[in-house]
Amino acid sequence: MPDLRVAIVGVTGAVGRQFLTLLEQRGFPLADLVPMASARSAGQTVQLGGREYQIQEAAADAFAAVDLAFFCANTQVSRELAPQAVARGAVVIDKSNAFRMDPAVPLVVPEVNPNDIHQHQGIIASPNCSTIQMVVALEPIRRRAGLKRIVVSTYQAVSGSGLLALQELISQSRAILEGQAVEPVVYPHQIAFNVLPHIDTIGADGYSGEEMKMVRETRKIMGDEHIEIAATTVRVPVLYGHSESIWIETEEKVTASQARQILMEAGVKVLDDPSGNQYPLAINCAGSDDVCVGRIREDLDRPNGLLMWVVADNLRKGAATNAIQIAEYMLAKGLLPA
Ligand SMILES: NC(=O)c1ccc[n+]([C@@H]2O[C@H](COP(=O)([O-])OP(=O)(O)OC[C@H]3O[C@@H](n4cnc5c(N)ncnc54)[C@H](OP(=O)(O)O)[C@@H]3O)[C@@H](O)[C@H]2O)c1
Repeated sequence: MPDLRVAIVGVTGAVGRQFLTLLEQRGFPLADLVPMASARSAGQTVQLGGREYQIQEAAADAFAAVDLAFFCANTQVSRELAPQAVARGAVVIDKSNAFRMDPAVPLVVPEVNPNDIHQHQGIIASPNCSTIQMVVALEPIRRRAGLKRIVVSTYQAVSGSGLLALQELISQSRAILEGQAVEPVVYPHQIAFNVLPHIDTIGADGYSGEEMKMVRETRKIMGDEHIEIAATTVRVPVLYGHSESIWIETEEKVTASQARQILMEAGVKVLDDPSGNQYPLAINCAGSDDVCVGRIREDLDRPNGLLMWVVADNLRKGAATNAIQIAEYMLAKGLLPA
């Protein structure tokens, strides 16, 4: 396999830091690393594999000697610089919302639709974190029994909003325990000791941007515009790991024990022994690449209804791991420059 010249755009952020950790942990074949961030971070350094690399300000010309660029800054940076990187010969795997619903851009979760990668024209999008873990858990059941409807409520960690939000939860928690007043900055309300039914902008129809990402992205990844999806996305005072309560209706009946078997055979981690207090927990899934499923049970009234609890690390499988898996697939298939 070729060694690649890899850029990480947004290397100082919550997701960017995970990329550094994971590229090293997974032994990704690197010829060179080009870490990029905003002008604020230019000149600082990052470490990878015992080497030190200087951060550059993200700019079009910085991609001249890059084969593969992971973008994890923000939507605006991706919109502006990803096409410039492609024009200079790089393949872009983008973690932002910039291109996900662009019909010319594959939106990929390798466990679900790896073949879509072959259609790429330079940019491949990685979905929203809450979408990724949901489709990994549901695709094996969909393949076996068909999927008519999904009703999901999320319990999303603050790291999903970036480093500033992590700091906000920690500092607010300390302040409140010490009896001090807090002033929300990242979120519209206090997040410590609270639950916010509001992620992203809420539109005139009452749905938030995050909820509509789950609807639209799931249909695109599964290649089925007819799946009915209703989402409620909620921010909770958890540092790492998104949890989801999911109800599905399948075309054919699937029992709870069949669902456990189907998921285990597909490589999904099943942790489902309520009598022994075994079910997925955010604090246990944080730091792992697994999508963990538990509390699987059959709907009491709907014959084809199934409920489950799905947890994954939003910075890993929800972000950096999924993007690196896309790159690993491309390497294995000879789709990246040699
Ligand atoms: N956090 C998650 O769980 C998650 C999951 C899926 C997708 N994503 C997506 O991943 C992206 C990064 O999220 P994050 O949580 O890592 O955010 P973050 O912690 O706030 O980090 C943002 C990064 O973007 C860089 N940046 C900001 N403005 C820039 C500019 N003009 N030019 C170049 N770099 C710039 C920052 O660099 P400085 O340090 O120099 O400011 C920093 O490295 C976002 O698009 C987000 O939607 C996040």
